[in-house]
Amino acid sequence: MFYELALSSWGKEELDAIGEVIASDFFTMGTRVSEFEAAFAKRFGARYAVMANSGSSANLIATAALFFKRQRPLQRGDEAIVPALSWATTYHPLQQYGLKLRFVDIELETLNIDVKMLERAMTPKTRLLVGVSILGNPCALDVLRKFADDHGLYFLEDNCESMGAELGGRYTGTFGDIGTFSFFFSHHISTIEGGIALTDDEELCHLMKALRAHGWTRDLPPNSPVFDSRFDDFFEAYRFIVPGYNVRPTEINAAIGLRQLRKLDDFVDIRRRNLALFNRLFADDERFIVQRENGKSSSFCFPIIVNPASRLNREHVLNALKKADIGYRIITGGNFLRHDVIRHYDYECVGEIVNADIAHDHGFFTGNHPFDLEEQIHKLRRVLDTAGN
Ligand SMILES: Cc1ncc(COP(=O)(O)O)c(C=O)c1O
Repeated sequence: MFYELALSSWGKEELDAIGEVIASDFFTMGTRVSEFEAAFAKRFGARYAVMANSGSSANLIATAALFFKRQRPLQRGDEAIVPALSWATTYHPLQQYGLKLRFVDIELETLNIDVKMLERAMTPKTRLLVGVSILGNPCALDVLRKFADDHGLYFLEDNCESMGAELGGRYTGTFGDIGTFSFFFSHHISTIEGGIALTDDEELCHLMKALRAHGWTRDLPPNSPVFDSRFDDFFEAYRFIVPGYNVRPTEINAAIGLRQLRKLDDFVDIRRRNLALFNRLFADDERFIVQRENGKSSSFCFPIIVNPASRLNREHVLNALKKADIGYRIITGGNFLRHDVIRHYDYECVGEIVNADIAHDHGFFTGNHPFDLEEQIHKLRRVLDTAGN
């Protein structure tokens, strides 16, 4: 394809890392996972990191952990404020744990939650706020953090699309009580499958470690705040304290992650350079609405909304892209409320959901990669110029 949605960012280092794990003959979660967790936490300035087998699993153990805190745990029937546009597995754990969702519209320009609606979204049952920075662009994390603190809410930050983004000199993924990241193919770093949860709270870290592996204590130190150790390895080896899963990563994922993490700064720099060119070519074109940066985006890709006020039609644009061999997708799945799965949810909308629908009906994105895309972006410009003529 001339302009792919996603490309591999691996080099020889990642293949060597896989080779080292194979040579070690030790594949299941071990020292490489711990090493990667320590490196990742340090890189982003968090106290603790818990790696999982995907970003979705990181969201699952993050959500679950809030239900098993000793003080003020979340409970079934509590309410969560969420944006109307995000990936399905931002929401699924919330549904699975019996929360009622209150959907808030997004801003068309940033594609992130419209924080003007937060007060209206609050009810006496609200206990959780979920922030998602869409496609590399920080949402108003400072406002969300303050709102959560002012109202005594937990703040879960799904940062699976925005590794390396910054707001006010602070990394996205570190504003929430827990922040999650994805290492799936096409994300800022890739470990085949993989994800991680960051937190500064030791109790949440230990709960997530137990939830990641069967709900047991095996991976916890004897002085953990989440159980009273009997200091007996025989029982502690198979001791279960929370209803957990098995969402462990392997040593291969962690070994690749260690190599990819070293390249992250360069990857983000190149993505930002591509973004600068994209913005230069598209920002002043009223036919298209492109993402307005809040803070410093790490530019996952290039979302474009065909301005409903223009005479352009998305179908024509997508056909032109297809003909030109340019990959595209709907923006993060579009308005989540428009998916069949919503019938399984307990939810309400806070006011009208207008902008998530516009993104759903008129938007799409093309890829950004940690490689120079000058040729591809210029061609995208030419194709969009002639689409619909
Ligand atoms: C916002 C968001 N959350 C969660 C995920 C899930 O991550 P994974 O694919 O690693 O399960 C994604 C995936 O792209 C995402 O965009």
